[in-house]
Amino acid sequence: MSANIAEVERRRAAAKLGGGQKRIDAQHVKGRLTARERLEVLLDEDSFEEIDMYVEHNCVDFGMAEQHIPGDGVVTGSGTINGRLVYVFSQDFTVFGGSLSERHAEKICKVMDAAMKVGAPVIGLNDSGGARIQEGVASLGGYAEVFQRNVLASGVIPQLSLIMGPCAGGAVYSPSMTDFIFMVEDSSYMFVTGPEVVKTVTNEVVTQEELGGASTHTVKSGVADLACENDIVALLQARDFIDFLPASNREDVPERPTNDPWDRLEESLDTIIPASANQPYDMHEVIRKTVDEGEFFEIQPRHAANIICGFGRVEGRTVGVVANQPMVLAGVLDIDSSKKAARFVRFCDAFNIPIVTLVDVPGFLPGTAQEHNGIIKHGAKLLFAYAEATVPKITVITRKAYGGAYDVMASKHLRGDLNYAWPTAEIAVMGAKGAVEIIFRQDRDNPEKIAEKTKEYEDRFANPFVAASKGFIDEVIMPHSTRKRIALGLRKLRNKELANPWKKHDNIPL
Ligand code: HXC
Repeated sequence: MSANIAEVERRRAAAKLGGGQKRIDAQHVKGRLTARERLEVLLDEDSFEEIDMYVEHNCVDFGMAEQHIPGDGVVTGSGTINGRLVYVFSQDFTVFGGSLSERHAEKICKVMDAAMKVGAPVIGLNDSGGARIQEGVASLGGYAEVFQRNVLASGVIPQLSLIMGPCAGGAVYSPSMTDFIFMVEDSSYMFVTGPEVVKTVTNEVVTQEELGGASTHTVKSGVADLACENDIVALLQARDFIDFLPASNREDVPERPTNDPWDRLEESLDTIIPASANQPYDMHEVIRKTVDEGEFFEIQPRHAANIICGFGRVEGRTVGVVANQPMVLAGVLDIDSSKKAARFVRFCDAFNIPIVTLVDVPGFLPGTAQEHNGIIKHGAKLLFAYAEATVPKITVITRKAYGGAYDVMASKHLRGDLNYAWPTAEIAVMGAKGAVEIIFRQDRDNPEKIAEKTKEYEDRFANPFVAASKGFIDEVIMPHSTRKRIALGLRKLRNKELANPWKKHDNIPL
């Protein structure tokens, strides 16, 4: 018996050594943790239960028959984060560069299938040289098996990808179909074709970092949601993040005890709106003063910062917050902000997370750049997302709500459940100046008349009462009572029932 036990221990030790101490050291020199060390940081202590530790590849070409490393480049299993079950896979760069073989893919698919069966999130730690080159099409098939599962799991269980090393070629498409992507700065990259191919095809000379590093994807492209300083920060952020999410679309949002009173009043919000309509203020302040303990997990903070998206809690329960940010481009809606918020709204709706929308929007961004790049289709994404969402929707207009953007931002007409406005709200087709320039074009050389008519337009529309008189605004609330009103609203809406007509699926303007 003891010999059997010793054999198990020997095999476990061999598997845990992955590609060997030399390659582990190389990983450390690059400032990266190994696949198993990462799981130790990500999961609660001693909670990881590994499966498929002894799986090996089945390739016999190019000298592979002689090279067998148990586990085949990916560590898989399940564990807990703050006591809640998650399934994980962690690619081991020390084993054939973490490259994906047929068996490696089967291991990933096995944890995805298990997560789907029980309804628990999947977190993938990606660090891989891509398709296992020696395996050819078997590896491509393996990728496609993973892709198919990503799609079937979308909207059923949360899927989170951490990019902690290379992620190139078609391999990028699995993370891109998951719900959120966190990247490690100066240590990870994602691109469909690398710098060498780019140079050959387009003559552009570009580094890996410029082409697909964390800052490229979290600022410019918007492919990734968060850039993290190093492996540990990324893993700790993932722990915090998962705490906000329900385990699946069958579950309610998680609840966490809080000492923050639900009816806390914030007098400072009564004076946050500047005297001049053109002066900005930081919408983050409104968000922090509204959610429990000021704790807000923002996604894509540096991409399309004219809209803020992220998770907070009210009375311990998760809410998704979408808010125009007057500090950036005056909070205007453009292509990037529409796409960013649309995807976020759809995530919240898929996972039963109520949406709180804070509105201060001067309209859609004009210009050929926007029109030629399809603001019509992209703006429609956000409109579509809000309109199809059936989760509780509470909207607070703090200042401007102009034009089509008024309609889009979770207005009453898009089945907003509670639509509030601060006394400073201005709800109109457009700002007074622009409106008068159009209606009184014939008087453009008469500045006194223009000024008089501008004042008249402002008096008529630069307030929330016209919209309130039509029932488009349910109540004009005091800014200091915003948290209390939202908390009360969410309580009331907890058992909200609303269904869209049956369809196979919708046809959102992609
Ligand atoms: C097999 C691989 C591998 C791969 C790396 N290795 N990538 N083995 N298949 N795809 C092995 C290396 O041979 C090496 O083995 C070890 O992993 C570490 O690699 P290094 O090159 O020494 O590491 P580094 O210098 O850090 O460079 C990492 C790298 C580079 C940039 C990822 O290895 C690389 O360019 N690899 C090839 C990338 C690639 O072209 N992949 C296929 C893309 S196509 P030893 O034994 O020396 O330690 C693709 C299609 C997917 O993925 C399509 C899905 C639909």
